[in-house]
Parts: sequence; C-alpha cells; structure tokens
Amino acid sequence: IAEDGLNAWLRYAPVPGASGNTFPSAIVALNKTKSSPVYIAGQELQKAASVVVGSLDQYMTATNSKYIPGLEVDGFWLNVKGSSVQIVGQNERGALYGAFEYLSRLAQGNFSDISYISNPSAPIRWTNEWDNLDGSIERGYAGPSIFFKDGYVVDNVTRVAQYARILASIRINGVIINNVNANETLLSDRNVQGLGRLADAMRPYGVKLGISLNFSSPRGFGGLDTFDPVDPAVIAFWGNVTERIYHAVPDMAGYLVKANSEGQPGPLTYNRTLAVGANLFANAVKPHGGIVMFRAFVYDNHINESNWKNDRANAAVDFFKDLDGKFDDNVVVQIKYGPIDFQVREPTSPLFANLLQTNTAIELQITQEYLGQQDHLVYIPPLWKTVLDFDLRVEGKPSKVQDIISGERFKRPLGGYAGVVNVGTNTTWLGSHLAMSNLYAYGRLAWDPTSDPQAILQDWIRLTFGLDPAVLSFITQMSMESWPAYENYTGNLGIQTLTDILYTHFGPNPASQDDNGWGQWTRADHNAIGMDRTVSNGTGFAGQYPPEVAAVYESLETTPDDLLLWFHHVPYTYNLHCRKTVIQYFYDAHYAGAETAQTFPVLWSTLKDKIDAQRYEDVLFRLNFQAGHSIVWRDAINEFYFNKSSIPDAAGRVGNH
Ligand code: GCU
Repeated sequence: IAEDGLNAWLRYAPVPGASGNTFPSAIVALNKTKSSPVYIAGQELQKAASVVVGSLDQYMTATNSKYIPGLEVDGFWLNVKGSSVQIVGQNERGALYGAFEYLSRLAQGNFSDISYISNPSAPIRWTNEWDNLDGSIERGYAGPSIFFKDGYVVDNVTRVAQYARILASIRINGVIINNVNANETLLSDRNVQGLGRLADAMRPYGVKLGISLNFSSPRGFGGLDTFDPVDPAVIAFWGNVTERIYHAVPDMAGYLVKANSEGQPGPLTYNRTLAVGANLFANAVKPHGGIVMFRAFVYDNHINESNWKNDRANAAVDFFKDLDGKFDDNVVVQIKYGPIDFQVREPTSPLFANLLQTNTAIELQITQEYLGQQDHLVYIPPLWKTVLDFDLRVEGKPSKVQDIISGERFKRPLGGYAGVVNVGTNTTWLGSHLAMSNLYAYGRLAWDPTSDPQAILQDWIRLTFGLDPAVLSFITQMSMESWPAYENYTGNLGIQTLTDILYTHFGPNPASQDDNGWGQWTRADHNAIGMDRTVSNGTGFAGQYPPEVAAVYESLETTPDDLLLWFHHVPYTYNLHCRKTVIQYFYDAHYAGAETAQTFPVLWSTLKDKIDAQRYEDVLFRLNFQAGHSIVWRDAINEFYFNKSSIPDAAGRVGNH
C-alpha cells in the first residue's frame, strides 16, 4: 500500500471491461539504450500493452514512414487503431509523454481508436523544490528532502528517479532541486558530483536538473572579498563554477536566482541593476544552452505602514519595468501569480503587462503554504485559472497571461511555468493523498492552460482512486468546493488569507498582517478596512495595469467584490455589489465556508467501502481536522472584526460569547 502512494496516479489498477485482446501483443521501443526516454517508454508500456514507440527520427528510419507535420518540441502523436498503436514524439521526451498519455487513457477505461497530436503551450515546465542541504524543506509538509541529507546530496537516488517518473507523466521537463534561499556549499566538489548523480537518475525521464544560486557565493564560498557582478574575479568565479557543474551535468537546465529579496544578497548591493545581475549568469550558461530563471519577487520587507502611499505590491513593477529589453535572451523573469505572495486570492501580477521584450514565466505554488499546508483540502487550479485566463489588455489587445508566458503574445523565444512543489520522503509525496491532485493538475495546465480544472481533476481521480461513479462524483464535489470554502473561512473580498504571517503561515492571525514591515497590510481600524491602491488617492498600484484594466480597479463601482479590499479602503458598512455590507459578508462567508468544510468528512465517509483502508483513514483524519479547524478560523476571524468594528452580526451568531 505504501507503494501505491509512491506511484501516485501511475497505479495501473485493473480496469473493468478490459480483456486479453483489448491490447496489442508486442512492444517495439526504437531505442534500446537504457538511459533513453524511449527505452523507459517501452518499459512503461510493457506494463499494459504492445506498441511502437520512438522519436520522429527513429520512427521514420525504422518504419520507412513519412515526416509527421505539426509536431513541436516535446510534442507527440498518438495513433491507436485497434491493436496497432504508434506513439511518436518530436523528440524522445515527447515519445515518453505519448506513452504516458496512452496508458492514462487505458487506465481510465478508454480503449477507443484515436489519432491526434499534442504539443506543449510553453517550453519551460519546471518545478521548484525549496530543499535545504541539511534535508529540511522550506514550506515543505511531507517530511525531509529526497535530494539532500546532512549537508550533501543523498547517496540513494531511488526516490529521485521515482519522482522524475511522476513528473514525466505530467510532462514536467525540469526541476530546480534546492531552496531559492540558497546555500553556497552546494557548489562544493562533493555536491557537484552529487548533482551529476541526481541528473543521471532523472535524465531517462526527460527531466533536467537545475539549481538555485546564492548571489554572494563568490565571497561566501569563493574566498573573494566581493560579489559585485561586474568585477572580473566574480565573473571568472561564476564561469568556473558553471564549467564544473556542466562537466558533471552536461544537460543542466539552468539557474534560479532570488536576489535582493527578504535579506538575500544581489546586484543592488553594488548599485548594479537586477538585469546586470541576471545577465552575469546568463553569460555563463549560454554556451551550454542553459537558462536563467530570475525571480521578480524582489521587495523590501521593512517598509513603513504609517505612509499611506507605501505598498509592497508595487515593488515588482517598480524594480523591473525599466529593465525591459535589458535581459539576455536566455533569461526568464519568474513572476509569482499575484503581487504579494501566494494568497488565497490576488489580482494578476501587473508585471506580466510591463515586460514586452523580456521572457517571463509564472510562479505557482503547489505546496499549500498559506492554503492549509496539506492539512486542508484545497484544489488550487481554479485559483490559478483566474490568473492564467486574465486578459491584461496590453496596448488594447487581447493579452491573456497564458499567452504572454507561452511567448506567443510578445513573440518571445522562451517562457512558461515554475511550480513550487516541495515533495518530501513521505510516501504520499506531498503529505496528503488528496493534495496530489494539485501537482497532477499543475503539469496538465502547464502543458495546456486552456484545459478545464474539473476535467483534469476527474482524470486524476480515476487514475488515483478508480472508476467508481460515486468516488468520482464525491471527490469532484469536495475538491471543486474546497477553494471557495477555504477563501470563505479565511480572508474574503481580497483582504488576503489572514493566516499568521509572522511565524507559521498556518491558522488564523488577522492581527499579524499590520504594524510590521512585511507590507501585507489590511489597514483595518474601527471604521474601515482595505488597502487604497488607487491612483487618485492611494498607493497607485492600480495604475501599474494597462489603462483598460487600471480603470476597472480604480473605481469602486467596477472593482469586483472579490478584490474590493485589495484595491479600496472602505467602511465596514460599505455595500457590495451583492448588496451585503462588508462586515456582514465577512460573517456570512465564514459561516458558509465552515459549513461546507463540515460536509467533506461526511461525503468521504460514504466512500468507505470503495477505497482501501489506509488511504480512506488517512484522508478522513485530515478532513475531520479541516472541518474542526474551519470553525476555529470562522470564530477567530469573525470575533476579531466584531471587536474592531463593534457591528453586530445580523444573524446574531457573532460576539455573543
Ligand atoms: C515566501 C515564503 C518564503 C519564501 C519566499 C520566496 O515569503 O514564506 O519561505 O522564501 O516566499 O518565495 O522567496
């Protein structure tokens, strides 16, 4: 059973209705080298069927077939006609993706003939893992690291290969294996050799390895007295480090850099621009085909709330806008979906609309840092979709975020997706069986952001829990209700999550948002609440969007209720579009959200005989916790704002204790 968790959605349980002759009877993998993705594809298929699988080149040579038009890098063609199956990838990685696609169809009981080409939306489909070298994981909720232990890369890479297999099945092609708050001892000889071992374990799955760098390594590790990015000794240091790494990992994906953020060192220390800092690494990796993911999460965490115009949300555009066009072609600016930090609801980061000559990627978070840390069921893709589908109207033209990061809108050569996953050694990978739907959906959306989150979820349910209609229907219901419920019993109307932000990022602590330099302010007092981010009277943040979008957020009348308090400072008695007052909305939403959470364990209990005991009990335990914790949330937040506002709940539930 433990192994079932490790296999995640790749369980291949017996499928009802499948018979001996449903499947072809021989598999021809066109590359027999054991470290090749096509060989792995053959092995995977062996578990189920019999098929020809290979890259386009191999296929044309081996079968004397004509060129297949329409295949893009990493894409595949799947052709099923009775017992004859062809899976052809544009490259070997694509062939493996096609194999997993075919198996996913079979595992869901779909044996019909089919022929189609599938191509990725974007070239960069990576995960970020915030693993520390001592084996701990920043914001990880599933035990210690699979990559590091006691300061070094692990010796046993079994779990790393298993993880790469799971990632390949959702078409993830790169992993940054260490924390953005990076430790420079990763650059030691022993660890660089270790990187080679990790990359070897992942390579057969078409997953490339990349690493996070610490900007001050020339000083902290290299023994120089500076890390100034234009200093020749610093440039030489990074050139040398890069050579050593590429020697151990010839196909290394690239570097991820968090600079001048939350106390991290960076180029601003020497009055050099962020672009100069990014290009330093871009130059070093360029000859090797590497990429630099440079994070836009740059802000000062010591700002003063007494200044009405101060706003952390402004930071990314303030820092990056004028650098547009100054980054090398192999730099990608990696932008969190919202301007603050993975909150339960945020407006789309306006930086996506301000970088027209720069490659960009979106940063999403699979690990549930502010979203219940895997102790709450929260199916996040509907939140991601609010951003991916958002039309920024750059230059008055359709400009969906998904089309900006794919490179299409501004004709950029690179772009895509970075998902912070933080898997651990726990046999469920994320610490919770149900949380794995978020990882599965992340990969699927990075491949095709037009897909429907509910349809993706249902594929995952069938693959993970089988084809029973009740199982499908109840897990769908719970999952689809989970993000709205979580938003209801945490922070509403765009006020942010209201979780503790000073220590744990877990549980309610609405007082922790204000009176400190982190800038996640609510400005709640006795009469009013919300950040005034208008241009006319506030921080000016609304003006960072292109005019059509800025106009919507500038005005109280057109700002949607769910972002009202993000953009405006209003009295608790302000009437929303939905006709409730702000304070009554808070009270009602908290009751509604907690009530929905009470239904989750009840729904789950009805599936007792349809799910193996271990997974059933584990999930039930968590859903019971969530149901209880949602009441803690409800009462903590409602009492807090009742005490602030002294406005009674129209339904008489709050403040009567
Ligand atoms: C959040 C998170 C940190 C993380 C940071 C980042 O602030 O709490 O743990 O380092 O984001 O994304 O860099």
